[in-house]
Amino acid sequence: MILVTGATGLSGSAVIREFAQQKAPVRALVRNRANAQALEALPTVEVVEGDMLRPETLGAALRDVDRVLMISSASKRMVQTQCMFIDEARQAGVRHIVKLSGKESGIGFNPNHFRSTWEHEHIEDYLEHSGLAWTHLRPSQFMQFYLPPAPTAVNVAKNALLIPMENARLSPVDVEDIAKVAFALLHSEGHEGKSYDMTGPEALTMAEVAEQISQAIGKPFRYVNIPLEEMRQAWLAAGIPAERVDTISEVLSERIRCVDSRVTLDTHKMFGVSPTTFAEFARRNAAVFRGKTMPL
Ligand SMILES: NC(=O)c1ccc[n+]([C@@H]2O[C@H](COP(=O)([O-])OP(=O)(O)OC[C@H]3O[C@@H](n4cnc5c(N)ncnc54)[C@H](OP(=O)(O)O)[C@@H]3O)[C@@H](O)[C@H]2O)c1
Repeated sequence: MILVTGATGLSGSAVIREFAQQKAPVRALVRNRANAQALEALPTVEVVEGDMLRPETLGAALRDVDRVLMISSASKRMVQTQCMFIDEARQAGVRHIVKLSGKESGIGFNPNHFRSTWEHEHIEDYLEHSGLAWTHLRPSQFMQFYLPPAPTAVNVAKNALLIPMENARLSPVDVEDIAKVAFALLHSEGHEGKSYDMTGPEALTMAEVAEQISQAIGKPFRYVNIPLEEMRQAWLAAGIPAERVDTISEVLSERIRCVDSRVTLDTHKMFGVSPTTFAEFARRNAAVFRGKTMPL
C-alpha cells in the first residue's frame, strides 16, 4: 500500500487525483475527514485520519504501508512534523519514504536565507540517516503561486501581478507535472538514495509571466514591481496570516538577488512527463485569472 500525507493540500490533492485518474489504489492521510470530501468521492482512494505530530493517531494510516509520499505544510513546525513522522513510519515497518522537498531555481540562491529551503535540507538529512530507503523530489516554485484566490501576487480586480521581483527570473513548475512524476516514481523501482530536482520549462521574468496571463485571458494584464513593504501591508490587510507573509517576504528578498534561474527538465524526461509551459498553465486557468472562483 502507498500512503500520501498532506492529501488535502495543494500538491497532495493533485497527487491523489493522479492516482484516481490512473485507477491505482492509494491511502490518503488527512487531519480532518470533513475537509476531505472531494478525496473520499474519488475511486481507489482510502481516506484515513491522523496527525503527523501525534504518532499515536497514525496506526491505521501506516498499517501495511510499504511506501510513503511525505508532504506537510511549509509551516514553522515542518521539521518537527516530518521528523516525528519518519520515526513513526520506521517503527510501523514502512520501507521507503519519498519526500516532497523543494529547491529554488535561482542561480546563486542561498538556502540559509530562506527558512523553508534549509528546513527541507535538514529533513532530507534526517531521512537519509533514518535507516529507511529514501528519495527526494525537489520542485522549484509552484506555478499555482500565481493563481488567485490563494495568497497570491495576482490581483484580478486590477488585472495586474503586483510583486517586488524587479527583472529577476524564476522557473515555476506545474503541480500537475509534480503529481505525474510522483505517481511514476512511486510505481517504479531503482529510485532509492536519489534526489530529483524539477523546474518548469522556462526561466521567466514577472513581465513575461504577466504577458502570458494577458495572452490567455485576451486582455491587458500588467506586472507592477511594487515595494516589498507595500506588498506585505496589502497581504496582511487581505487577512493572509503573518507567518505566510513573512515566509513570502523572506523568499522574495533572496529571489531578487538571483537574476537568473536554472531550468532542469531531467526529472520530467526520466519519468516521461511533458513539461507544462506557463502559457499552457495560464490557458488552463484562464477563467480563474479572469476572476472566476473555481477549484484548482
Ligand atoms: N509552494 C511552492 O512554491 C513550493 C515549492 C517547492 C516545494 N514546496 C513544498 O511543498 C510542500 C507542500 O506544499 P503544499 O503547498 O502542497 O502544502 P499545503 O497546501 O499547505 O498542504 C499541506 C498539507 O499538509 C497537511 N498537514 C500539515 N500538518 C500536518 C500534520 N501535522 N499532520 C497531517 N497532515 C498535516 C495539511 O493538512 P490540513 O489540511 O489538515 O492542514 C495539508 O494537507 C511544502 O513542504 C513546501 O515547502 C512548495
